[in-house]
Amino acid sequence: MTASGETPRTVGVGLISVGWMGRLHSRAYSVLPFFYPELGIRTRLVAAADTAPAGREYAANVLGFERTFADYRDVLADPEVEVVSICAPNFLHAEIAVAAAEAGKPFWVEKPVGRSAIETAAVRDAAEKAGVPTTIGFNYRHVPAVEHARQLINEGTIGTITNVRGRFFGGFSSNPEDPFTWRFEREQSGSGVLNDLMGHLADLIHYLLGPIGSVTAVTGTYLTDRPGLKGTPHEGTRVPVQNEDYATMLIRFDDSAVAAGALGSLEASRIAVGPKSEYGFEIFGTEGSLRWEFERLNEIEIAIGRTGSHVGYTRVFADRSFPEYDRFQPSSGTGMGYDDLKVIEAKKFLVSATGGPAEGSNIADALASAQVLSAAEESAASSQWVTTPVVPGNTSNTKEKSA
Ligand SMILES: NC(=O)c1ccc[n+]([C@@H]2O[C@H](COP(=O)([O-])OP(=O)(O)OC[C@H]3O[C@@H](n4cnc5c(N)ncnc54)[C@H](O)[C@@H]3O)[C@@H](O)[C@H]2O)c1
Repeated sequence: MTASGETPRTVGVGLISVGWMGRLHSRAYSVLPFFYPELGIRTRLVAAADTAPAGREYAANVLGFERTFADYRDVLADPEVEVVSICAPNFLHAEIAVAAAEAGKPFWVEKPVGRSAIETAAVRDAAEKAGVPTTIGFNYRHVPAVEHARQLINEGTIGTITNVRGRFFGGFSSNPEDPFTWRFEREQSGSGVLNDLMGHLADLIHYLLGPIGSVTAVTGTYLTDRPGLKGTPHEGTRVPVQNEDYATMLIRFDDSAVAAGALGSLEASRIAVGPKSEYGFEIFGTEGSLRWEFERLNEIEIAIGRTGSHVGYTRVFADRSFPEYDRFQPSSGTGMGYDDLKVIEAKKFLVSATGGPAEGSNIADALASAQVLSAAEESAASSQWVTTPVVPGNTSNTKEKSA
């Protein structure tokens, strides 16, 4: 029984790849009813696939999946699997997502959906043709403080947007002696930090301020080779890195955007020494400014107006008045964490997959972000401004939607 006494609807879940993200998706499905009991949605962890035996053992013995397979196709063919999480390495996302769509299964896929905008568009086409709901692992947009920022922007509290700075600085690839993995290989990963971190940032900017209309970008690779991974043909050699460590771009917003007319700069690095996950934005308007940083995800700094005793930034803790916060914590100062964002994402996915509204990011948002990354790559190669083909993302903050 649900909290309101109704019989819950149990959804059969399939998982493809049991790494970090696979574990988090599974956890999110399992704890969802604790936080959203009124939805009446329960999940059953039916089938998981991983090529690694350790992944399959973990899925069966720890996560509680009923059956496991080495081949993801067995998960998609399982009649008791109604929805699928795709948490494989990048190069498999598009192939698996197209197969999921063709099997008629709604899917929640990790970013980046494709190694390029062309691959992402193929997934969009397959999902549209099959009519299956989709959700993308753009988790940062679910942070209550980020949602609060979007509300303030749409209410006009900071006036007309003039400019934005965004950055995502990670240090996870900063050690040149860390081995050469799929992330550094173009065929397996696509672009480097663009596809990995900048894609999140482009999505967040679309969500907060609307479609990016054109970009000019530069990129650089600084840790140019890495030791070959043990147990591979590269062991004992140094392997050239094939994609960029750092990228920066100037952006102009499209006329349809809430921030039409505004300018900005976005930066991403995977080799920053010091920053761990410095992911944030500063948004400036004619009446005020907002700034947020993932390493302090429960806080946002807000400056409104030019005069008065409290002029300047005020640090505000997320509280029950911020979207979704009260589902996780009863009061301000008791912070939410990264894993909670995946629970919110699971909720949006399962609501849309069971016939409810599509409130989260979907494949159109993934394509919108991928088009920006493609434009950035093109610009870095040509040293020219490149116009982004504007894809109306499901949740891009356009003037029309915010009106
Ligand atoms: N949304 C986010 O914030 C976020 C964070 C981290 C990673 N990601 C994305 O999630 C994806 C997975 O990342 P991760 O950190 O979980 O990786 P991981 O290395 O922890 O796990 C990958 C898993 O895929 C399995 N695998 C490899 N080939 C396979 C195949 N052919 N079939 C089935 N399984 C296979 C591996 O055995 C491993 O268990 C990546 O695309 C990454 O970009 C997203």
